[in-house]
Amino acid sequence: MAIEWDGSARQLHLQNGQVSYVLRVLEDGSLGLLHFGAPLAAGRSYRHLGRSGFAGFSNRLDDPIALDYPTAGGGDYRMPALVIQQADGTSVLALRYVSHRIVPGKAGIAGLPSTYVESADEATSVEIRLADAPSGVEVQLTYTIFRDQPIIARQARVRNGGSTRVRLTTAMSASLDLPDSDWLLLQLSGAWARERHVTNRRLAPGRQSTASLRGASGHEHDPSLILRRPATTETAGEAYAFSLVYSGNFLAEAEVGPFATTRVRLGINPEGFGWVLEPGEAFNTPEAVLAYSAHGLARLSAAYHALYRERLARGSWRDRPRPILINNWEGTYFDFDEAKLVEIATVARDLGIELFVLDDGWFGARDDDTTSLGDWMVDRRKLPNGIDCLARRITDLGLGFGLWIEPEMVSQQSRLFAEHPDWAIGVAGRPRTESRQQLVLDLSRPEIVDHLFTVLSEVLVSAPISYVKWDMNRNITEPASLGLPPDRQGEFFHRYILGVYDLYARLTAAFPEILFESCAGGGGRFDPGLLAYAPQAWTSDDTDAIERLRIQWGASLLYPLSSMGAHVSAVPNHQTGRRTPLATRAAVAFFGVFGYELDATNLSAVERAEVAEQVAFYKAHRDLLQRGSFVRLRSPFEDDGNETAWMVVSEDRRQAIVGFYRTLNRPNPGVNRLRLRDLDPARAYRVTPWPAGTGTVERDNAAVRGGDELAEIGLFLDVDRHETAGQGDYWAQLFVLEAE
Ligand code: DGJ
Repeated sequence: MAIEWDGSARQLHLQNGQVSYVLRVLEDGSLGLLHFGAPLAAGRSYRHLGRSGFAGFSNRLDDPIALDYPTAGGGDYRMPALVIQQADGTSVLALRYVSHRIVPGKAGIAGLPSTYVESADEATSVEIRLADAPSGVEVQLTYTIFRDQPIIARQARVRNGGSTRVRLTTAMSASLDLPDSDWLLLQLSGAWARERHVTNRRLAPGRQSTASLRGASGHEHDPSLILRRPATTETAGEAYAFSLVYSGNFLAEAEVGPFATTRVRLGINPEGFGWVLEPGEAFNTPEAVLAYSAHGLARLSAAYHALYRERLARGSWRDRPRPILINNWEGTYFDFDEAKLVEIATVARDLGIELFVLDDGWFGARDDDTTSLGDWMVDRRKLPNGIDCLARRITDLGLGFGLWIEPEMVSQQSRLFAEHPDWAIGVAGRPRTESRQQLVLDLSRPEIVDHLFTVLSEVLVSAPISYVKWDMNRNITEPASLGLPPDRQGEFFHRYILGVYDLYARLTAAFPEILFESCAGGGGRFDPGLLAYAPQAWTSDDTDAIERLRIQWGASLLYPLSSMGAHVSAVPNHQTGRRTPLATRAAVAFFGVFGYELDATNLSAVERAEVAEQVAFYKAHRDLLQRGSFVRLRSPFEDDGNETAWMVVSEDRRQAIVGFYRTLNRPNPGVNRLRLRDLDPARAYRVTPWPAGTGTVERDNAAVRGGDELAEIGLFLDVDRHETAGQGDYWAQLFVLEAE
């Protein structure tokens, strides 16, 4: 891995044998992009790949120029990366190269989450300084290439080096030009309870984007953009991914220009954004993480999984096995008392579960969602002996104790709101939009973050708490802050997220042994930004196993299994009313950070035995299921979506677990063989179906079979028509593979 500077070609080449990123200082001093993609040989000039300078865009004289951090007003009419309104009211900027510096390792970004290295030899970075002479605006673009992944991380720092204040209105994290437009835009989109569904659309002339204006990354779109060739599959063909390490308003956009090139930009959503820079002040954009694969989507995912699991997530829980939890939310909702919770925990303990999580409703006087958010004092009507006593009773059982909080919110019926009505976000003289009967606290104000840190620290030291679920159940409306003057209201949304990060950073530093799980009504803020503080997230409020196939498949494009909370809940399912077999629910939830979300005291003796066996299964394979490499085999988004299959493989390829899921049982099906991937073709594997007892699936697959054969011929799914017919709809079958 290296970053080369070729002074005669004025070229910078970031390369690691897996990816190349080639920049060139053009004759006019602007920064051109010669190539991002397949690895190119080091030590060569690639100057011929680009034009020498920019002479306006209206007439095509040559190949359209590819720029790397374009600005507005200079005749490049495509979307800009940076727009700055200057003292004279104009926004014309022409950034020119000043200098660059190649440094080992990778620096952090003050106040913002980012990927990191643990030793300087894991990555190399280059900081490129650009400046606009008339305004004094300076930009430092930082690019990092990691040694082991086809990944480039990027970030921009904008400084007002002039003598009058300026106002940033667009400051993207990354922008670059690709030489053609023959791409499908793959986005992870949906809504509450159906997050991260895979959607593909062909790029067309003009702009296409996903975005958020909610104050959170949102259930609706992941803060990312993937480009794939129309023929790209999991294992073949080109693909790029652009993922933003950010939890607030974002924009991920592709623009196909008149000469069929594609500009991609990713960063804070410029809509409503405005950031004042006084002379000498600087603004840091969030980090964008870019990846390239010549070998399909699987390679992209593997790169993000490794980086996000090991060099974005941090803290004492990053590498530790995550506990199997039981959460009381769907089991009791707000209706519980100490005896009920201890009863659930006792059954859970007997089944082998390791952590009990007390969800919403333990504080203030909260019997429904109308009151008490902000009053982080125990409700003694439900828990007369306090959180401490409850937590000790649970830990005495041998379980860890976890607690739900929703720090960013306040109920109008609460002491906090009575004392500080002005802490809730809103615009004076306008009604506030209601959502889930709660308001959002203005975390852009440091005194509110300080208050939350104090009261939440008091809660966390008051009892033996080893896990926190940090929820966030509504988005921001009437965005405004009393802490900002009128000309800085455009800073509000970003300052809010900086406040969230600050609170997370302080709490995780003060309580390093607590495992934090982020949540926002499920996956409403499931993004790389929060992964830097909370190594796992509640993937979706939808616990239906069939729905989860799509949600977890989509999330797996970018996120590792160790980040995805996945629980077994009761049937009929509370989101869909569907009745799926208990084994199917577990077979889906195993592929994530496993747990239960039900009243364990309601389980029959037969179900308890089944759950105990599931828990034992997960414990036996936890490392593989949380940290193994995830391989997507059969997509719930393709064909008619009736079948899904995936697998997880250990690093040494000696162990694997395959999951196969069939939504509807269809009579007299065709031949169905599931070809596996990433096994060692030279090894023989013992195949053990789970759960046992599905007849010929066992007989035909239970032999010791070669890795080559499993890849080329596959597992038999079609051999026991009569017996799987008996399994009916929503059937799942796992196969445990162990090298002989
Ligand atoms: C939404 C979360 O996603 C649920 O799991 C639960 O914690 C509720 N909020 C509680 O209000």
